[in-house]
Amino acid sequence: MTILMQWLHVVAAVLAVGGVACVRFAILPAIEELDEGAREELLEVIQTRFRQIIGISMGLLLVTGLYNVGVAASAGTLTTPAYLHPVIVKIVLALIVFKIAFMLMIPGPAFSGVKANRKKWLTINFVLGLVVILIAAYLRRLV
Ligand code: HEM
Repeated sequence: MTILMQWLHVVAAVLAVGGVACVRFAILPAIEELDEGAREELLEVIQTRFRQIIGISMGLLLVTGLYNVGVAASAGTLTTPAYLHPVIVKIVLALIVFKIAFMLMIPGPAFSGVKANRKKWLTINFVLGLVVILIAAYLRRLV
């Protein structure tokens, strides 16, 4: 069970962070070549599909992440400050990543200021995702 949950957590992280990198560094620059109307239309189609991938990934990351916290708690590692503090930072950063993703993905006019700076916020989310993975690598060395 633990291996399955760990695998699901890593798969979801790969999909989410890799997906953000693909949209930010491949798709967005590529569609800048198109005229405004075609660009918006294509962006909408891509977003509809990407929304499903990100939604499923975030749900999986949350459920399997909480399971991982449970595993750490029962192993006694949560009581060590060297583990506890970074894991709290990791979870808070992950929740910020989720919040930014939510603001960018929600359909309609909500968060239009964030959506108008899509490239900037996707870059921020990508970097935060990398930091979360760095903290995960550190935590893995401790257990
Ligand atoms: C942007 C979202 C997230 C990313 C990219 C991410 C990424 C990762 C990665 C790559 C690992 C390493 C797995 C391994 O070593 O096999 C990991 C471990 C872990 N994650 Fe996440 N995660 C995210 C969100 C969360 C959330 C929301 C939680 C908790 C609610 C969480 C809790 C944990 C815990 C407790 C571990 C185990 C650390 C250890 O003891 O080795 N993660 N995460």
